Amino acid sequence: MNQETILIVEDNPILRQGLQEMLELEGFAIFTASNGQQALDEMRDRSPDLILSDIAMPVMDGHAFFRAVRERSEWVSIPFVFLTARGEHEDVLVGKNMGAEDYMVKPVTREDLITVVNSRLERSHQLRVAQLQQAYATSLTVLANAIEVRDQYTRGHVERVMAYAFAIAENLNDHEFDHDQLRFGAMLHDIGKIHIRETTLCKNEPLTFDEWSEIKLHPLTGAEMIKDIPYLSPAIPVVRYHHERWDGTGYPQGLSGEDIPLVARIVTIADGFDAMTTDRPYSTARSLDQARQEILDGSGTRYDPLIVEAFIKAWESGRFRAIASQPPESLT
Ligand SMILES: [Fe+2]
Ligand SMILES: [Fe+2]
Repeated sequence: MNQETILIVEDNPILRQGLQEMLELEGFAIFTASNGQQALDEMRDRSPDLILSDIAMPVMDGHAFFRAVRERSEWVSIPFVFLTARGEHEDVLVGKNMGAEDYMVKPVTREDLITVVNSRLERSHQLRVAQLQQAYATSLTVLANAIEVRDQYTRGHVERVMAYAFAIAENLNDHEFDHDQLRFGAMLHDIGKIHIRETTLCKNEPLTFDEWSEIKLHPLTGAEMIKDIPYLSPAIPVVRYHHERWDGTGYPQGLSGEDIPLVARIVTIADGFDAMTTDRPYSTARSLDQARQEILDGSGTRYDPLIVEAFIKAWESGRFRAIASQPPESLT
């Protein structure tokens, strides 16, 4: 594990050293400064994972230092803890209003210090992970929507398939499903379509044998596209098997029954429902009720009866109607 670094800003050398020793004993790397200005100079070369700063200091006090830190975008998320002398309530209030993460009253005990530092670092770590995941999700949506740019008929398809898939999965009592697998799988299921020629993708006459063969490759092409991205590996079975059928007559592999991964069986119904209820180059949209009936009729042949049951529960709760009527932007 990387050693976490803490910056201690304190003008009293004895206090500064005491804090440094306590934190070093806990395994943190420490650098120190005796006022805000010196701390800013130090931070030019390295930025800490957490800042512990006194308030009353010569040259530049803690509040001015805090403001200077928060002004820089690369430092804005560093947890900042004020150290204040007993009785300086005013200072505590000012610090809190400015948005500091925490404050501690001096003299601090070793126990309090370690608790506050660890909990602030933990929180900041959680925030970073969440931000990273958000960034991943955003770039994935861009990737998934790249298909829609070529295929205007599928506008909102990805968003709706995701929402339908979750509506079904949440009604699958007693069946655990991998949340990430469902999310990324539904999002990326058609990513391989990016390799289908425009003339084939948007053709509104019956497809030739060769054109069909080209379309039928998209699950494998899609799986191939994401195979080297570890973060997306849970999605691979969904991408690869979303056109398999329960009775073994699907593609690309002709898998049947429970040999088809559960999450792929969920996405198959979500995908089928959306394909039926939106206009496509080769067919006009059917009504929601017609699509519901087709899913029911396909139970045991095209679709897994268990997932069809969950679909019906989700349908009866009104989720499918609600999703179908929403603009795609509001579904993610
Ligand atoms: Fe597909
Ligand atoms: Fe699809």
